[in-house]
Amino acid sequence: MYRAYISGIGHYLPENIVTNDDLAKIMDTSDEWIVERTGIKQRHYITGNQGPTDLAIPATKDALKMAGLTEDDIDLIIFATSTPDYYAPGSGCLLQEKMGFNTIGALDIRVQCPGFVYGLSIAEQYIKTGTAKHVLLVGAEVQSTALDMTTNGRDTAVIFADGAGAVILSATKEDKGILSTHLHSEGKYAKELWVESPSSKVNPRITPEIIDDGKHLLFMNGREVFKNAVRRFPEVIIEAMDANGLTIDDIDVLVPHQANIRITEFVAKKLGMPMNKIISNIHRVGNTTAASIPIALSEAVSEGKIKKGQNIILAAFGSGFAWASAAIKW
Ligand code: COA
Repeated sequence: MYRAYISGIGHYLPENIVTNDDLAKIMDTSDEWIVERTGIKQRHYITGNQGPTDLAIPATKDALKMAGLTEDDIDLIIFATSTPDYYAPGSGCLLQEKMGFNTIGALDIRVQCPGFVYGLSIAEQYIKTGTAKHVLLVGAEVQSTALDMTTNGRDTAVIFADGAGAVILSATKEDKGILSTHLHSEGKYAKELWVESPSSKVNPRITPEIIDDGKHLLFMNGREVFKNAVRRFPEVIIEAMDANGLTIDDIDVLVPHQANIRITEFVAKKLGMPMNKIISNIHRVGNTTAASIPIALSEAVSEGKIKKGQNIILAAFGSGFAWASAAIKW
């Protein structure tokens, strides 16, 4: 059996920076409110017609470069996004074409915020069994086009943002890489954080009425999300530690999905983990759903915050509700 380890990582944030003050010009909000409730100061939005595959390209190029690989070395593409370029085909196929990969398998997974951790779990299975040697896993999102940028949608609009992260998972026989992954879902909360339209249950799928009602935009019940997130994050982190006989002291770095700084602080307190072991970039980047963990991880690696031999935990919670964790020996 092989182990899957991250041999390369990269990320990309669109150039257009939108501050809280910029949002306060178009809706009734303030820098003070947003910082206090979410920790976010600014976020990046696309300009023009960029899709998640466009954001994924520079991230993927950097990940390939770090791994010392070319497009020809990759055996499988896994693309985690809740905001695909199109309903069909998946963004993985579009990336295959745009980057000139061989005619390898390309699969999209739509598990929203935990999508990247779910993707790690899938990639690991291919690598462990020797089916694939190098897998490209992308988390990329364009959320800005699904936000209600009026006062009506202010609780959700100030949180979500655009960006992409990519990793190459490679096979090794060394004592490093993914130790375990843990996946969960609870669909009874589906409507607490969702995009209702367009829906294949409705004919036609999109109408002026649907748009007038804002059903094509991201809806979030913030309180329900908060309540469940602060329960599930610690649970799934402890699950990953227990599966590997690790204690809080054994964890060198926690990379949580950047949902909201208040959720991260709550989780840190509940676990008794010092904040300096927890990677946080939400003040600069906002919540980029499936892209959030690979962006935070990529920044941490390039800043030298993650070192060989360290125990890393990744954990995410989001729409579904779905949540997941991964334990990694770097
Ligand atoms: N700016 C200013 N005021 C805002 C606002 C904004 N962007 N958004 C909401 N408000 C107002 C509300 O309208 C409400 O006003 P009212 O008292 O006059 O009715 C007031 O602030 C409090 O609203 P409430 O919804 O109770 O705020 P909250 O303390 O629950 O904070 C969230 C809202 C969204 C920040 C909070 O629920 C949260 O963090 N939820 C989790 C979100 C999350 O992490 N999502 C990502 C999941 S992956």
